[in-house]
Amino acid sequence: MNHKSLSFYLSLILLFQCIYAGVFAQSASIQNVQGRSNLSLNGRWNYIVDPYENGYYDYRHTPYDQSASGKGGFYDDKKQENKSELIEYNFDLSPTLKVPGDWNSQVANLELYEGTVWYRRKFEIAPKADKKYFLYFAAVNYEAHVYLNGKKLGIHKGGFTPFQFDVTSKLKQGENVVVVKVDNTRKQDEIPTVNTDWWNYGGITRDVFLTELPAAHIADYKVQLAKGNANKIEGFVQVSGSQLTQNITVFIPEAGIKTSVTTDVSGKAVIDIPVKNISYWSPENPKLYKVQLTSETDTLNDLIGFRTIETKGQDILVNGKSVFLRGISLHDENPLLPGRLRSTGDMRMMLQWAKELGCNYVRLAHYPHNEEMMRLADEMGLFVWAEVPVYWTISWENKDTYTNASKQLTDLIERDKNRASVIVWSIGNETPLSEPRLNFMSNLAATVKATDNTRLVSAALEVHRKGYEVVVDDVLGEKLDLVSFNEYAGWYWGGLPKEMLKYHFNIKYNKPVVITEFGADALGGFHADEETKFSEEYQESLYKYQIQFLQTIKGLRGMTPWILADFRSPRRQHPVYQNFWNRKGLISETGKKKKAFYTLQQFYNNMQQQYKP
Ligand code: GCU
Repeated sequence: MNHKSLSFYLSLILLFQCIYAGVFAQSASIQNVQGRSNLSLNGRWNYIVDPYENGYYDYRHTPYDQSASGKGGFYDDKKQENKSELIEYNFDLSPTLKVPGDWNSQVANLELYEGTVWYRRKFEIAPKADKKYFLYFAAVNYEAHVYLNGKKLGIHKGGFTPFQFDVTSKLKQGENVVVVKVDNTRKQDEIPTVNTDWWNYGGITRDVFLTELPAAHIADYKVQLAKGNANKIEGFVQVSGSQLTQNITVFIPEAGIKTSVTTDVSGKAVIDIPVKNISYWSPENPKLYKVQLTSETDTLNDLIGFRTIETKGQDILVNGKSVFLRGISLHDENPLLPGRLRSTGDMRMMLQWAKELGCNYVRLAHYPHNEEMMRLADEMGLFVWAEVPVYWTISWENKDTYTNASKQLTDLIERDKNRASVIVWSIGNETPLSEPRLNFMSNLAATVKATDNTRLVSAALEVHRKGYEVVVDDVLGEKLDLVSFNEYAGWYWGGLPKEMLKYHFNIKYNKPVVITEFGADALGGFHADEETKFSEEYQESLYKYQIQFLQTIKGLRGMTPWILADFRSPRRQHPVYQNFWNRKGLISETGKKKKAFYTLQQFYNNMQQQYKP
């Protein structure tokens, strides 16, 4: 190959790299997007089901949006100009789906659908010259290709974290059209991978906003107590857009704080504020302060709680006091209205049930839940274990898989870094032991510490049994602040619940132990003796024995039994007891509290008496 053709091919490679980078490039997510000036794009979107991705690939399987004309895909929402023109799709004449919301629970024949659905929404806007505009998605499961007025904005992968595109220069005066290709197909190298014990709800499952911001605006900030220092607020304020060097005022009126900082040439200012006589946040005292950040061009408010969290030997200290985490696990699913939690009302109901159970803590499994859940936990007084879906048999040796997991983890941390309720970042669940897995998970643990050293890092570790010994010596435990694991004595192993007391724990680490799961299935309303699986009595018996069993663990500092409410799962096919429902809920899908609910409630209420702050 002569040098001319070589330089031609090198420039082609460079061109494709720029296209690829451009297509994936998005601005970092806006902090506290709900607190900005938003045009909500929630509501009804027209949709087209496209199992063969006919709206994306031509018949030679070339993507339309990478073809020379860039025309032909469903994203250009062409109108039929004359009757002889052949167009084989039409959004205007297509049905609609509610956004936010998954498609599985809205349309009967999409209940098990995995593939592509195209969404289209029109909106009117009169863009202002001195403003910037961002198209913001709180979550789309799983892969989203986003187009505005027929032009591709980019791609996002990951079903539970926010993303946005700067559309300032792409909006038209008047009517604009946004089209999103959503594909929830499971793939081995993705996060999560192909095998999960939860329903693969596809769609635009959380809010969509067109966010209007000043040309120079406060894009991001962290305002929290310094690690291990109850007398200092530290963090940063980040200005983006034009005019990066600005004077910023941090105003927390109820704490008697008003201080100014100046951003540097990159738009960033570090904050470091001494505090005294503030009311520290805790579940018993979920005190939130109004925090107002004002720059020369922007103002925004947030509600922020201040608390410290640390471990000391086998204890967990919040604001310097020992706590026991009286928890329960939750999926992002409303049992009464099948599908993803759609509204604040849905979320408040779930957390109210947790409070009624006597909880001060929830494990939001196994993926980032809605940002609104964290804000409600702040308000209602519940600690939160937040998690990324690094679940089971991940492709540990695939670099793109690690990049994906790490991005979902840092997106979660960046989104919720100002939420006092969040005390644990979990990097995964029940990941099988191997050297590649240890490297992958150790790097994620290091990423947590590098991104946010003010909170704890953990994961549901692997457990194994040697005779009657339940052994927890997963080497990943060395990288974590808590020893957490799932333990299903009396259900998946160990015979009947009454037999579990023959076993004992051998836990290698001198760290606080927080049990991430135990439980049993029970079909709400099915009653039998306590040795009949799937009966409420069996589940009740298991809870009674588990509560005894777990209290034999020295250093037990919390638990989140599996799970608050029955949830949909494609792995639970028993035609009488399950019907695609995992029945380990303490509450059935009709909202009925099972007998075990009261067993756990009594244990937590008794404990609360012991631990009166
Ligand atoms: C596992 C897993 C859960 C699952 C549960 C069960 O430990 O972490 O996601 O639903 O057990 O088997 O019900």
